[in-house]
Amino acid sequence: MDTIETYAGLSPAAFFTIAALMVVVYKIVCSMFVDPEEFNKPTNNSSINLHHSTPKISEPFQLGDVTEQELRAYDGSDPNKPLLMAIKGQIYDVSSSRMFYGPGGPYSKFAGRDASRALALLSFDPKDLTGNLEGLSDSELEVLQDWAYKFMEKYVKVGQLVAEQTRTEQTDGEEVEESHKHETNGDRQTF
Ligand code: HEM
Repeated sequence: MDTIETYAGLSPAAFFTIAALMVVVYKIVCSMFVDPEEFNKPTNNSSINLHHSTPKISEPFQLGDVTEQELRAYDGSDPNKPLLMAIKGQIYDVSSSRMFYGPGGPYSKFAGRDASRALALLSFDPKDLTGNLEGLSDSELEVLQDWAYKFMEKYVKVGQLVAEQTRTEQTDGEEVEESHKHETNGDRQTF
């Protein structure tokens, strides 16, 4: 106590009062630069333990090569599956826009499909729910390309469509069905 008086020239009571006031002022100034919600959050000690924490990083969803038929499973009818949609053969995860493409949404018919033709023609006709671009004019293809750019910017690409080719072969008079996948010859884009 004498040391405080000798060095600070203050009585111990005055010294501790001033110290406490400085802590309070420091806290107030700090709170002016921190988001109030963050500032008031209780500290979770387990998150500070760097050596024992195992952060859960979920793997981004990737589907790879699938056929149009396989893509149908991602039309939003199963809430545990991501919502996918293809444009020009490229499959995007549109789960973030469930209000557009999910069940009951205005564009739910596009989900789980390659809706390129419908988008190019701005059509809701079920016969246009296809990736077939045959007979489209230059301006319609341009409209489609604008949609493609929008999707590239907004969504994560998770795979691409491949065509399922069913080949019938004659072997020893028996009909054998062999299925194999090959890339569709649609407009491929490199990223
Ligand atoms: C009466 C005509 C239409 C109106 C008023 C309309 C309105 C809208 C609106 C307000 C949005 C939300 C935009 C945003 O927040 O980003 C939207 C999105 C969309 N529209 Fe339409 N739309 C119409 C016709 C069409 C047609 C004909 C198609 C295609 C066949 C279409 C395809 C889409 C798609 C795919 C999206 C979602 C894009 C995304 O994923 O961000 N719309 N529309």
